[in-house]
Amino acid sequence: MRLSSLWGLLAAASLSTAKHLPARNYSSHDYYAVHLSSSTSPAALAEHLGLEYDGPLNALESFHVFKAPKHNNDIVDDAVQELKRKRRKREVGSEFNLLDDVRFTQKQKLKPRHWKRNRMPEVVRDSTNPADIQRDIVRALQITDPIFGEQWHLFNVKTPGNDLNVTDVWLQGYTGKNVTACIVDDGLDMDSEDLKDNFFAEGSYDFNDHEDLPRPKLSDDRHGTRCAGEVSAGKNNACGVGVAYDSKISGVRILSGDITDMDEALAINYEYSKNDIYSCSWGPPDDGKTMQAPGILIEQAMIEAVQKGRGGKGNIYVFAAGNGASADDNCNFDGYTNSIYSITVGSIDKNNLHPYYSEACSAQLVVTYSSGSGEAIHTTDVGANKCTSQHGGTSAAGPIGVGTFALALEANPELSWRDMQWLTVMTAVPFDQPSDWTKTSIGKMFSHQFGYGKLDAWAIVELAKTWTPVKPQAWFYSPWMHVKKPIPEGDTGLASVFEVTKEMLKGANFERVEHITLTMNVEHERRGDLSVELISPDGMTSHLSTARRDDEVALGYIDWTFMSVAHFGEKGIGKWTVIVKDTKTNGKVGNFTDWKLRLWGECIDAKAQKLRPMPTEHDDDDHDVLSDHPAHTTSVSVPPESPTVAVPSDHPERPVNQKPKPTATETSAFETPISATITATATATASSAPDNFLPSPFPTFGVSKRTQIWIYGALGLILIFCASLATYLFLARRKRLRESRDNYEFELVNDDDDDAGARTGMLAGQGGRRNRARRGGELYDAFAGESDEDLLSEEEDGGYRDRDEGEEAYGEENFNEKFNEKGSDAGESNGSSSDRRT
Ligand SMILES: *[C@@H]1O[C@H](CO)[C@@H](O)[C@H](O)[C@H]1NC(C)=O
Ligand SMILES: *[C@@H]1O[C@H](CO)[C@@H](O)[C@H](O)[C@H]1NC(C)=O
Ligand SMILES: *[C@@H]1O[C@H](CO)[C@@H](O)[C@H](O)[C@H]1NC(C)=O
Ligand SMILES: *[C@@H]1O[C@H](CO)[C@@H](O)[C@H](O)[C@H]1NC(C)=O
Repeated sequence: MRLSSLWGLLAAASLSTAKHLPARNYSSHDYYAVHLSSSTSPAALAEHLGLEYDGPLNALESFHVFKAPKHNNDIVDDAVQELKRKRRKREVGSEFNLLDDVRFTQKQKLKPRHWKRNRMPEVVRDSTNPADIQRDIVRALQITDPIFGEQWHLFNVKTPGNDLNVTDVWLQGYTGKNVTACIVDDGLDMDSEDLKDNFFAEGSYDFNDHEDLPRPKLSDDRHGTRCAGEVSAGKNNACGVGVAYDSKISGVRILSGDITDMDEALAINYEYSKNDIYSCSWGPPDDGKTMQAPGILIEQAMIEAVQKGRGGKGNIYVFAAGNGASADDNCNFDGYTNSIYSITVGSIDKNNLHPYYSEACSAQLVVTYSSGSGEAIHTTDVGANKCTSQHGGTSAAGPIGVGTFALALEANPELSWRDMQWLTVMTAVPFDQPSDWTKTSIGKMFSHQFGYGKLDAWAIVELAKTWTPVKPQAWFYSPWMHVKKPIPEGDTGLASVFEVTKEMLKGANFERVEHITLTMNVEHERRGDLSVELISPDGMTSHLSTARRDDEVALGYIDWTFMSVAHFGEKGIGKWTVIVKDTKTNGKVGNFTDWKLRLWGECIDAKAQKLRPMPTEHDDDDHDVLSDHPAHTTSVSVPPESPTVAVPSDHPERPVNQKPKPTATETSAFETPISATITATATATASSAPDNFLPSPFPTFGVSKRTQIWIYGALGLILIFCASLATYLFLARRKRLRESRDNYEFELVNDDDDDAGARTGMLAGQGGRRNRARRGGELYDAFAGESDEDLLSEEEDGGYRDRDEGEEAYGEENFNEKFNEKGSDAGESNGSSSDRRT
């Protein structure tokens, strides 16, 4: 061993005992996150490249941080590339070079700041006397907190039932003891009288100012403290109480200064053996035109925590859904909220109405109370004994979820991160608001707007007590499905199908679905025109993506991963159909390039199941590789003017599009029928298939002009494409035709392609085509603003609007009616005994 590497090991050893890296200074230095094989000395590499070694990146095993004075080049990557070049040119031989041990390197870039997800509500104070609270609860629990009476989300006197249903959980003795939640935000006022007793310094750090305590310093550093109060404000004489008022609360400060992916990776799993739950009420801009996912380091850091945190049971990540609904934003365009590792929490207001800001998406698991209808969340604020009545947005909903999960963890500390998602699915309460509520295969109602419903603390804690932990996570990946077809403009779509067989899942040790992710590439001249639906074998539709009026980006989707929680509990076996639509007829067109389906869920045999290998940047680089997976795609093309097929009667229970609606003329983004008239026709496979796949009752409209087929391997799986499916679709289609005025429908093309595990179909249309958009680039959109607080007021937005989407269809009057009814109920109750709830 050379002297330098010995020295390096020593240096590394001494550095790694230091808890924190030296403070970063992004104005003077560049920083590199480098993954080295464990045999390599970081100091030797530093010496070799003229870098300074700062120490190990605690967020990830075998990652190290190096720095160099600011420089335009990427010193590490340039050296790695240079070595490769020289080897290619044989200027150097293949003998070992230190750089061979560099498995990953990333020069750190400053990130656009995340948006906090609070909203300043227009608070209309009404004069109800808070003395009307349930005095016996207060007495029994000896709550002396002065604003407890205003904390309607904990106990709602005015509209009984519109709260978290938590007080009986407290009375049972569950208050968050021995559970720690970490607020990843703009700081946490650990000196606040309401927080100081629960504050947990060991789990806290300031990644903006590189100090041990995440003290709020900027004038608007209030957000984290408010969130912390919702979770863990103590039972004392200050302000109100948190949902888990005996839990411990830590804070990690990242939103108040420049950070890089490396900092965020460190922050997001900071002290993951001591922090149990991470509360994240922020994310990429909710401006309706950003599409941004956590970088690979951050993703890996979350997985590290989920695999190793809490003694291997996994940390619980909670993300606020996002406040961009009125800008057509959708939480599936946010890679944090659509991570399978996070529980995404949206908002409802005190009347159970959808507040104008709260985003919908297929990745949203649940909602809980926040601002809207003139009220907001009352919680602790920065200051010795300061309270606010103004905490709102999905920012305020997330921490209520965090507090609730803390109670469930106290009741059953064995729960894994996936158990918590299961418990949420099983106990969330659907409520009487119009949305695209659809019954899932396991009998739960799901809505893209409200997830599985609203959180009920009592219900989740009750179930947590007796819950048997689910078996380890298994996964099944489809091969890349190559579509490479133009997407017709308008209400038609382009469909592609992959069939999952029983054998495939058995081979993957896969028992039942929890999450679905779908990674896809679409080249398009205007990204906001696109929408994507995924229909499961059980007939459940996930609206993975919806059109966004302001999203002008001319790139389409580049290796973007959408996620859905709408398929929890499905078996997963059968045909999964993805339908891409170009919803606007504006001459801006594009192509559906390819997609890859991933099923995540519970394994069959726990003993045989391994942990997911850490994903890398290159996992999806196999787009064009022909796999030996026994599946292939057949593209199905459609002639430009394909006639619409008339469709017969009803299908009894296909659970799609059953959103209650007053009229058939209004459609929301989430009820667009999946289907269009399709005309489809399949095309031949290289090996077989006739040109016409339609079963006899269906006319074939202009069969394939072009036949393209991608064969993955020679293995054959018999795809029996059956009359029953055809009939089913036929029926479903007719029903839909009757019910909607959408001028298209869809039908799966019969596929006699016997050895197909997969197939692609195309929906009818006047297909368009244009210039190919580039691949690559553009992970981050421009950061569009500093704060979301004053972008929209409720007044401007009429308090309730998802433009052009179905919500308006229900009419404000309807809501007002409901609202008023409740209002008068509340009036009565105010006069009556305070003991309305038991
Ligand atoms: C960071 O570097 C800049 C430029 O060298 C310097 O002016 C500044 O004082 C440094 N900041 C800290 C906190 O050391
Ligand atoms: C609330 O909790 C109680 C138990 O205290 C339970 O009986 C009830 O079903 C829960 N839900 C609602 C909506 O009250
Ligand atoms: C508190 O939790 C830790 C792990 O999270 C556990 O080891 C310990 O036994 C718990 N203590 C109590 C009193 O439940
Ligand atoms: C779609 O594909 C066609 C044919 O390959 C190509 O000419 C066109 O430029 C593509 N469109 C886009 C938007 O990339």
